[in-house]
Amino acid sequence: MTTTELPATFLPTPLGGTLINRVRLADPAEYAHLPALELSDRSLSDLELLATGAYSPLSGFLGEADYLSVIEHLRLSDGTPWSLPITLPVTEDEAARLRGRIRLTRGGVMVGLLDISEQYAARKSLEAREVYRTEDPAHPGVAALYEQGNINLAGEVTLLEVPRGEFPRYHRTPAEVRAVIEARGWQSTVAFQTRNPIHRAHEYLHKVALELVDGLLLHPLVGTTKNDDVPADTRMQAYEVLLEHYYPAQRTLLSTYPAAMRYAGPREAILHALSRRNYGATHFIVGRDHAGVGNYYGTYEAQEIFQNFTAEELGIRILKFEHTFYCQSCQQLVSPRTCPHDPSHHLVLSGTKVREKLRGGEALPSEFTRPEVADVLRRAYARQQ
Ligand code: ADX
Repeated sequence: MTTTELPATFLPTPLGGTLINRVRLADPAEYAHLPALELSDRSLSDLELLATGAYSPLSGFLGEADYLSVIEHLRLSDGTPWSLPITLPVTEDEAARLRGRIRLTRGGVMVGLLDISEQYAARKSLEAREVYRTEDPAHPGVAALYEQGNINLAGEVTLLEVPRGEFPRYHRTPAEVRAVIEARGWQSTVAFQTRNPIHRAHEYLHKVALELVDGLLLHPLVGTTKNDDVPADTRMQAYEVLLEHYYPAQRTLLSTYPAAMRYAGPREAILHALSRRNYGATHFIVGRDHAGVGNYYGTYEAQEIFQNFTAEELGIRILKFEHTFYCQSCQQLVSPRTCPHDPSHHLVLSGTKVREKLRGGEALPSEFTRPEVADVLRRAYARQQ
């Protein structure tokens, strides 16, 4: 087949039909008279994701009807699937001085605008119970919820400029990722969300998926994570060394996902999948305890929750993987679906165990992490000591 005969790329329609674009170049001096609101890390991430269309069909922070509908029914009030309330929380004092159009700032510098359509009280305990399934303040998502202001501001956002962040080479908007997919002519693209350093099980999921689809969008989350998670720059270095030696360059795209982590497990898996559809993915990987923390969620709850929607509503296919690990007897990566041996043959290391080993200067077994990655991690931990 010659190149001209290749079938056209397939890109899914964004959720809601149109890729939202609320990025507008403007002169901050024109808006200097407006009241200002300084954004937290998370709200800054949300502003970017809203304005660049990663959260299409949302074009702003949720109003009360959508907020309650998402919490109670996993849908926006028009029935569109949506799982996490994207809100802009402020204190009562801030709410009292903010009306109409306001400037959104970061470090005092204007980054965008909000046209306030509504202010309403956050229902924190309802949100914690329904979204996080716990009110335990030890849960990092619940802790963040209880720390934030009690009033949510709703309304359409405008972003002045896409921030290129810490990793400008890899920072692409949904439209930019779509353009790469198109240029490469992928008929199908599987997206991979991650907040942890890449290990062998991740690589196994990527490669099994690549047997089925044309392209792999490696989409590490680089917004705020909890303090003991491995920092994004170390994770990106690990990706770089692996991609150089072990991934097919023309079938792999490493790009950052600027969201903050909520640790909402099943609910967050839905948001992760829907937003990756907006980035142009046709498939999304959900493995064990996706976006989970501690023991708050069942191992496969983040897969089961997708049963609430039809395939058509989701518009992205979920590739579900069982717990994957190295088996000493099979001498390869396996899962309970493929391995006949009992757990004594298996090498399973929890994230906590891995961090303990790294802090103690211990080597990670090469069956668990490739030596190149273990080296990046070891050096990063040594710098911290
Ligand atoms: S997450 O918070 O972003 O989900 P992580 O980076 O560890 O954390 O996981 C990324 C994806 O890989 C998730 O879909 C997760 O379920 C999956 N995953 C991670 N480790 C394994 C494993 N050992 N077996 C199967 N799936 C896994």
